Amino acid sequence: MIETVPTTAYQDQKPGTSGLRKKVRHFQQPNYIENFVQAIFDSLDGFEGQTLVLGGDGRYHNREVIQVVLRMAAANGFGRVLVGQGGILSTPAASNVIRKYQAFGGIILSASHNPGGPDEDFGIKYNIGNGGPAPESVTDAIYARTQAIDAYKTVTAPDIDIDTIGESFIEGMSVQVIDSVADYAALMETLFDFGAIRDLIGSGFRVVFDAMSAVTGPYALEIIGRRLGAGEAAVFNGVPLPDFGGHHPDPNLVHAKDLYDTLMAPDAPDFGAASDGDGDRNLIVGKHIFITPSDSLAMLAANAHLAPGYAAGLKGIARSMPTSGAADRVAEKLGIPLYETPTGWKFFGNLLDAGMATICGEESAGTGSDHVREKDGLWAVLLWLNILAVRRESVAAIAEAHWATYGRNYYARHDYEGIDTAAADALMAELRGKLASLPGSAVAGLTIASADDFAYTDPVDGSVSAKQGIRIGFEGGSRVVFRLSGTGTSGATLRVYLERYEPADGDLAQDTPQALAPLITAAEAIAGIARHSGRSEPDVVT
Ligand code: G6P
Ligand code: ZN
Repeated sequence: MIETVPTTAYQDQKPGTSGLRKKVRHFQQPNYIENFVQAIFDSLDGFEGQTLVLGGDGRYHNREVIQVVLRMAAANGFGRVLVGQGGILSTPAASNVIRKYQAFGGIILSASHNPGGPDEDFGIKYNIGNGGPAPESVTDAIYARTQAIDAYKTVTAPDIDIDTIGESFIEGMSVQVIDSVADYAALMETLFDFGAIRDLIGSGFRVVFDAMSAVTGPYALEIIGRRLGAGEAAVFNGVPLPDFGGHHPDPNLVHAKDLYDTLMAPDAPDFGAASDGDGDRNLIVGKHIFITPSDSLAMLAANAHLAPGYAAGLKGIARSMPTSGAADRVAEKLGIPLYETPTGWKFFGNLLDAGMATICGEESAGTGSDHVREKDGLWAVLLWLNILAVRRESVAAIAEAHWATYGRNYYARHDYEGIDTAAADALMAELRGKLASLPGSAVAGLTIASADDFAYTDPVDGSVSAKQGIRIGFEGGSRVVFRLSGTGTSGATLRVYLERYEPADGDLAQDTPQALAPLITAAEAIAGIARHSGRSEPDVVT
């Protein structure tokens, strides 16, 4: 029976860079989930009888929320829900299922790389029919609706068995529990030469993958472990756990340190990779060499034609503004356009849909292509493996040859986490206030050439996104960017992005911290980070 339940609006349900993210306990307030889900449905038109895709990264609270959404989808008139077995779908796998089955949209339960557990984070986001995150027009409408909502619709029905593949019904709505991995693995087989990768691995090339006790475990076990023949032992932390084993499922040098150490050991494997909570991020580490996400994007773009799915070449490359300019040089050489977008995968959606870009990437460990509308951690790993299988060179050799061709963009991001929101806002406001006065002045021996607040006009729909980060450009091509994170759940996180370009005939073998030292000093001098935040060191350097 369909019920309309009265509710009281919450005023804090504004979706951030990637959906609504809060502490689990916050989500456990009365009707908090129901309000947000109803606000999503209320903001959409024409889904009557249509298909919704539903899945999540398996974190704490995932299973309960799946049941809530199933009942509400039935009450609101969806015809069918495709739900990943056990409530599991990685974010790129969900994107693929939406596209493959021409669903109306999807609800993904994830707080990505944030920790999980009763005292940690949860998240909900809505993806549209192209498989990508809802654009701002939709998330703005959802937010507006959350502030006024006074009732939600649900049905009285027992829990659905989401662990057994097959079909059941709620109030006439079909619920199909699908294999979480099968469609995704099939898609990967169309893009990459699995035979060539299997031969590489069979020849003794050692691959390891850290699933960080998060969603990619089952995907990596099937694809890397079985289909590519690396064996189950090649997948570390392959079982998804509701609290990710107490770890922070963020594949960076801090949280994936075990993997990094494995690759830096004298007897290291040839290739190591990791993915995050929901499977859309990637970390690539070769034997004795870390590949920054910005470099990885550039190297993948330069070599993508070696994989069957990209043999026809790329239409264009897109990167987020704080991502280094390494990919720009590849685009230039290939004679294809390079698009610079604000942070957030949703900004790539229009470019991909319009066939303007084929490969996209972000400094925040996200890379992907037009095969889905999310970034895709395992996809990046498989493209690297396909390239390695064709070139039969080490990761280090590929990186060195790349820099010798295009030059090297030394790059790092410094994060100051959990700082006081007012202090962070004050820092940014002060910076914005002095932008006009900066060009021409010298700091830490560097001359400022340009200073602005990045604004983006979408070339497809003309929408404008302002205040996307402060860019300070120096003479010689170095750059510092200041931005506040849009994905945190407590306090503010200041991100400082540092980049220095060294041409192909320059010194390509420096240590990154040493290459960036003058920029670190300049960033402090320009923004007064210590003065505003009380911090003298970043919490995370990636
Ligand atoms: C998520 C988004 C990315 C974004 C990243 C960092 O992973 O999907 O598109 O780059 O968060 O965002 P932030 O606002 O925290 O820098
Ligand atoms: Zn993620």
